[in-house]
Amino acid sequence: MEDRAQWGTRAGFILAAVGSAIGLGNIWRFPAVAYENGGGSFFIPYLFALLTAGLPILIMEFTIGHKFRGSAPLSFFRMNKKAEWIGWWGVFISFVISTYYAVIIAWSMRYSLFSFNLNWGSDPESFLFNDFLKLTVTPGETGSLVPGVLIPLLIVWVVTLGVLFKGVKKGIEKANKIFLPTLVVLFLIVVIRAVTLPGALDGLDAFFQPNFEALKSPSVWVAAYGHIFFSLSVAFAIMITYSSYLPKKSDITNNAFITAFSNSGFELLAGIGVFAALGFMANQAGVPIDEVVAGGVGLAFVVFPQIISEFPALNGVFGFLFFASLTLAGLTSLISISETYVAGISEKFGISRNKAVSIGGGAAAVISLLFATQGGLFFLDAADYFINQFGVAFVGLIEVVAVAWFLRKLNTLQTHANEISDIRIGGWWKACLGVITPIVLGYMMFGLFKQNLLKEFETETGNYEGYSDSFILYGGWFVAGFALLAGLLIVFKRWHSKSDDESYKEVG
Ligand code: ALA
Repeated sequence: MEDRAQWGTRAGFILAAVGSAIGLGNIWRFPAVAYENGGGSFFIPYLFALLTAGLPILIMEFTIGHKFRGSAPLSFFRMNKKAEWIGWWGVFISFVISTYYAVIIAWSMRYSLFSFNLNWGSDPESFLFNDFLKLTVTPGETGSLVPGVLIPLLIVWVVTLGVLFKGVKKGIEKANKIFLPTLVVLFLIVVIRAVTLPGALDGLDAFFQPNFEALKSPSVWVAAYGHIFFSLSVAFAIMITYSSYLPKKSDITNNAFITAFSNSGFELLAGIGVFAALGFMANQAGVPIDEVVAGGVGLAFVVFPQIISEFPALNGVFGFLFFASLTLAGLTSLISISETYVAGISEKFGISRNKAVSIGGGAAAVISLLFATQGGLFFLDAADYFINQFGVAFVGLIEVVAVAWFLRKLNTLQTHANEISDIRIGGWWKACLGVITPIVLGYMMFGLFKQNLLKEFETETGNYEGYSDSFILYGGWFVAGFALLAGLLIVFKRWHSKSDDESYKEVG
């Protein structure tokens, strides 16, 4: 009798998967990524990447987790002993992401309270960098810990690890059942208020205005793939881990469709809300929209505070709702990101969930302190840039090529998914994973490596100036090299006997 933890209900699993997908990526990255990459016409590469890579990989990951019933490394190990390292790469990517993702949630949490008094005053940019983050060191230096960031960061970890300690059903499922519906309600209020502001339509116009010229640029397509992977939480071990907790009789493909379309729906909503608000701001300042658009840190923590300050009434409430949404969206994703290494460590070493949460979560929390120092933002930008540009999409590519070309598992996985799902997958799924994604993504990654890694490059977020390319380059490569090596080395350690093959029965 297998004693693996399980979701209590199908809805519980879907909420957890959607909660993982909807995150900071949807609210603070998507609107700016879409705008910078052609506005309305960005939906073409976006949909292409979603339908040919994101969704097929999501179905593949759900199937792998369900069939092999393990964390990502264990599932890959059971698929083929030589493939375990692919699972670890995903886990390491998640580990790195969790260390800085937690910090952005901590800022959001703090800003939700700042909203009530409009603490940022008349200059939100100076407030963010000087008063809040105390960014007075040169890039690469840490300076001291910043208490204003440290305290919410500790709260973020207490909540996240507290949920993980409680387990799959009583912890993760329950938290998502509360957080996700709350998020949807809060965020709907934000969006409805935003689209009824003066100038909102100009903002939407700018957002949806297509620029078909942009489609000729390869970087637009790279951006679409990178965004889809990050936003759907694929290629970082999460969805394999989550689906490994599904009962044997579960739907796979339909669940993947629901997850993917809920995520994209929310993303579109976020784009509409953010651009309506930007339209309002441009209208108030009497300037064109492109002068007020910013990405990432700048959008959420500089531009939004400005918008909140200019609100006609109840600005504190609007601000609170916006930052509380960001906090909740982030938390449900952070829980899933951290669960990847909790599951991996626990199975590899045969230790209890509680020990794995303490070791894995504890290590992530300690490393995240780096980003809560005065120089933290520079490190955060470097880590985020590197992970987004290369990490996630690269692991996705390796995963697809390994499963489709080397292990040749697409047929087995297809049969498994079709046996239990309402929607049947067929030729299109195999063509996407076996041909389209490896070729398109492989070609893009090659171009990207050549273009970016062998020479200097600019940070895309462009929020901060004055630090050298080499800082990002060496820092990024150090982390990537470390993850690569660790992923390969850990394979030499044997699985704890409980996780090794003896008692395990493949489903299907
Ligand atoms: N999928 C999560 C996000 O969009 C990680 O932020």
